[in-house]
Amino acid sequence: MPNLTVELLPGHKRGLFLSNPVLTASGTFGNGLEYAKVFDIQLLGAIVSKAITLRPRRGNAQPRIVETAAGMLNSIGLQNIGIEAILRDVAPLWATWRVPVIANIAGESIAHYAELARRLDGTPGVSGIEVNVSCPNVENGLEFGTDPKAASALTYAVRRETDMPLLVKLGPNVTDIVDIAAAVANSGADALTLINTFPAMRIDIQTRRPALGWGSGGLSGPALKPIALRMVYQVARSLDIPIVGCGGIVSAEDTIEFLMAGARAVQVGTATFRNPRAPLDIIEELEDLMRRQGVDDLQGIVGAALPARRESETVDAAASERLRQRL
Ligand code: SIN
Repeated sequence: MPNLTVELLPGHKRGLFLSNPVLTASGTFGNGLEYAKVFDIQLLGAIVSKAITLRPRRGNAQPRIVETAAGMLNSIGLQNIGIEAILRDVAPLWATWRVPVIANIAGESIAHYAELARRLDGTPGVSGIEVNVSCPNVENGLEFGTDPKAASALTYAVRRETDMPLLVKLGPNVTDIVDIAAAVANSGADALTLINTFPAMRIDIQTRRPALGWGSGGLSGPALKPIALRMVYQVARSLDIPIVGCGGIVSAEDTIEFLMAGARAVQVGTATFRNPRAPLDIIEELEDLMRRQGVDDLQGIVGAALPARRESETVDAAASERLRQRL
């Protein structure tokens, strides 16, 4: 039997052990409850919840989804039921599942993020926290993910509230992804999710107005994949932090590309809009592909495409630590 298991955070006190490297991406799989009625979600590597905010949110005006060539735009606006309902009604169900659930959190201030982490800390059914600093569809949604200092301060504040596995999800709309990634990595993140959607738009030529109610949205799907792959590669080449790749993955081959670029696991998102079973199909395809290629352990190919690292290419960890201490 090919080995698809992933120890996502080696050395972490609690760890995050996955039966395979295929997770669902936040915002594309609800909180897993509906899909649990459709197929065996326990076969997934992990589920990442919809973004959770302190208070329930109704989300943005319709339309909130439009198709594009090789992708789609969404401008949901973080619609969700809020932390109280998650802790009361949803987490107890997650606690009955074998598949790990990672809670994605989003806030309007550092204090919001810290409070969310505090309330989730130690919650049965929650195996880790993914900090969303890259939502393009709300006021200030990108504020913490585009400036290394702000990203660092936020990560540090969340880290102080929890020793649970902590992932930070970065967006692609930055000048230098390695700068932001380094700031986050040196402020206590255990792993990075790369990447969120890319801010984008469409115009409705009948109404002569933006096609989305919010005006713009986030581009996802296969159109995003080469950008995501490049960012995973760039960060993996420079930093020693586990990476979960995300962006346009629809097949086992896509997954393998991300692993070879340096990701240890991947998140599948937009593909589930076409085929709700896409993550499971990818896991099955991966097993098949490994058998055919004679690959026994999938983690053996992580980073296979990366050049040997030269000292001059690594980010100065001491400099990042000094930055953290100044905050
Ligand atoms: C949304 O709710 O608008 C999407 C979430 C995200 O892009 O982080």
